[in-house]
Amino acid sequence: MSVQKPLPHDAARLHVTGAARYVDDIPTPRGTLHLAFGLSTIAAGRVAEIDLAAVRSARGVVGLWEAKDLPSDCDCSPSAHDEPLLSGATIHYLGQPIFLVAATSHLAARKAARLGKITYTERDAILTIDEAMAVDSRFEDGPRIWEKGDPGEAIDTAPRHLSGEMEIGGQEHFYLEGQCAMALPQEGGDMVVHASTQHPTEIQHKVAHALHLPMHAVRVETRRMGGGFGGKESQGNALAIACAVVAAATGKPVKMRYDRDDDFMITGKRHDFRIAYRIGFDDDGVIKGIEFEQYARCGWAQDLSLPVADRAMLHADNAYHLPHVRIESHRLKTNTQSATAFRGFGGPQGMLGIERVMDHIAHELGMDPVAVRRANFYAAEVEGGQPPAPEAPPRGISETEKTEGDIVSRGSEELVEGTDAKPAAASQTTPYGQVVEDFILHEMTERLLTEAEYETRREAVAAWNDENPVIKKGLAFSPVKFGISFTLTHLNQAGALVHVYQDGSIHMNHGGTEMGQGLFQKVAQVAADRFGVPLEMVKITATDTGKVPNTSATAASSGSDLNGMAVKAACDTIRDRMAEHLAELHQCAAADVQFADGNVTVGGETYSFAEAAQIAYQARVSLSATGFYKTPKLSWDRIKGQGRPFYYFAYGAAVSEVAVDTLTGEYRVLRTDILHDAGSSLNPAIDIGQIEGGFVQGAGWLTTEELVWDDTGRLRTHAPSTYKIPACSDRPDVFNLALWDGRNREDTIYRSKAVGEPPFMLGISVFLALSDAIAACGDSYPALDAPATPERLLAAIERVRDGI
Ligand code: MTE
Ligand code: MOS
Repeated sequence: MSVQKPLPHDAARLHVTGAARYVDDIPTPRGTLHLAFGLSTIAAGRVAEIDLAAVRSARGVVGLWEAKDLPSDCDCSPSAHDEPLLSGATIHYLGQPIFLVAATSHLAARKAARLGKITYTERDAILTIDEAMAVDSRFEDGPRIWEKGDPGEAIDTAPRHLSGEMEIGGQEHFYLEGQCAMALPQEGGDMVVHASTQHPTEIQHKVAHALHLPMHAVRVETRRMGGGFGGKESQGNALAIACAVVAAATGKPVKMRYDRDDDFMITGKRHDFRIAYRIGFDDDGVIKGIEFEQYARCGWAQDLSLPVADRAMLHADNAYHLPHVRIESHRLKTNTQSATAFRGFGGPQGMLGIERVMDHIAHELGMDPVAVRRANFYAAEVEGGQPPAPEAPPRGISETEKTEGDIVSRGSEELVEGTDAKPAAASQTTPYGQVVEDFILHEMTERLLTEAEYETRREAVAAWNDENPVIKKGLAFSPVKFGISFTLTHLNQAGALVHVYQDGSIHMNHGGTEMGQGLFQKVAQVAADRFGVPLEMVKITATDTGKVPNTSATAASSGSDLNGMAVKAACDTIRDRMAEHLAELHQCAAADVQFADGNVTVGGETYSFAEAAQIAYQARVSLSATGFYKTPKLSWDRIKGQGRPFYYFAYGAAVSEVAVDTLTGEYRVLRTDILHDAGSSLNPAIDIGQIEGGFVQGAGWLTTEELVWDDTGRLRTHAPSTYKIPACSDRPDVFNLALWDGRNREDTIYRSKAVGEPPFMLGISVFLALSDAIAACGDSYPALDAPATPERLLAAIERVRDGI
């Protein structure tokens, strides 16, 4: 069977040989025009005068558009209709597109775009959280507040108290393939768009809107992205709309790609946050009551900021039971790039808040931070506090073959029932009222601490720090509990289209997009498995709004959960039709027709799958089907903050050890051990890649990746020279990773779990380890802000030494 095998990414060979085709690699027709934006050089104010004569007469320029020349406002927003393609008179941020140039080459367009002479009437820009709070510049009328129990009372009556605040920096996606789109005009005014996007349907919708066309007149195709990480959920809209508008106006094919600096200056990033907390706890470190204030810097337009800020609130508990809790969330509007989705979608920021709290409590009590965490964990799923035994012995990376549940044969449609029938204990609920039914972190923590030799190394680190005044070591554990599902319930749906050709080869299509995460391969494995054929029989095809309509963004880690199920449904429809026909021919029951090993066995006869397809075709049996899936069990009221926003949780845990040079603030990650829960993994090799990549990206966010805006609102770190993403050398020197062996208790595709985002937050362990190392320099709590750059570490070391 093809599922659960550690197969390489379907395009791995193409990726490494440079043969994989991205939008910019599609051969362009003769006469293709290239676009570039002219950008604002101030953060807030109005355009006083605009002189584009030099742009117009520049070499290669064939067209020029200002806001007033567009066929509509060409809104680019995924949410609030507040993002005109070109600014018009009002400027909202430094880097905002003001005009659009079309030229005969990419370079000519870029050069010309620099020649605009624009004068402005500036006004004071609102750049920071403090500035936004001072003038109440925000989205929504006031803060969103969710509350459970009586946190004020619980804090006041608790024996111990702490409060604090931390700043959390944003993050640039730094997808290796920059934003790119191409529009090809068709007969009768129709438009075909190739776009590097996680959300082809959104591009279709926005292009149709800009051109006053029905959606059926626009078809969007996406074969793959060279990374998206959330940065291509909405940020590709502008390029696609620009291309389509110019293509419609000129009748020519049009392409646009941002170079890296423009990508930094124009597009949104991860939201930076400030999180303040007030806690009451007892002498064992158990939290009695807690209040969080979360401040999110959202930038100039709403984009996805409301659901991002919601998800930060939804992860303010992470893995911990908070009996009395209040979370107040401020979504602040500033004159900066419009912050957007980024792996974890606000979850990482929310989670970092409570992890900081755990760390702070441990420091205050002089307890081991792991003990504080375990004392606050949600209860395990069975009564009596005893964690249930793992269903199967822990499995290493190599032992991936599974024998249970013969899902190939038609005789056993569903997986063998596991422990999922177990009723939840009189369980604890999250701050938003969802019952935590499957809390496996007790066992995961136990196993991870053992394998990482936490106790011994804790002592070794302490001994090292006693003896070494300059290099300090730190060790930290952090858990992840991440909610899986879109919090906008209607997005939790997916469609698929599958054809079986008369030679038995299979064409597979679904609404998900491929951005390197391996979604296409996982879903192809599902298709191959449903028909019992080798993987090579299944053709992976580009995402296409003409094949599967009304799709959601490939986001919220739910790509394989949703599209895997939709493809399964489509395959099963065709398989059932084939089985019915063959059963009739052989006078037996359809359930007795077996699809396995590339063959179809019926009534003692064995056909190759190709022969079976041919027989069905000859008998005029339809060999094409759509499939559809919607996630069950969801109900969510985001205003009240109550319900079940998540189908299930994905878990993980990490232990990281670092060494810090206290003279320079430089550091290395010496060792990281990770145990991650991907349920019954659809493809352990791909999932391990996701876990490694997610962890490293998460650690990068909290260490070297620093976005710096100056007082005028200009982003000063807009290229790899100044913005440091992790390099190979930043990987932990020792990096041990294992998958937790457990099936999803919910009925997901082959009982797997989503894996795209959750491991990102394992990077928090590195940040906490740095804090631990610095704590060894003195008695006071380091109160480290993120990212923990060497500069910030030095400042924290000084504070700790001075006892501040
Ligand atoms: N992995 C790679 N290689 N490239 C990416 O752009 N995006 C991440 C994650 N892993 C990303 C990635 C994000 S933000 C999400 S939401 C998921 O993949 C989306 O894909 P999935 O739902 O299929 O997991
Ligand atoms: Mo991922 S941030 O949900 O695209």
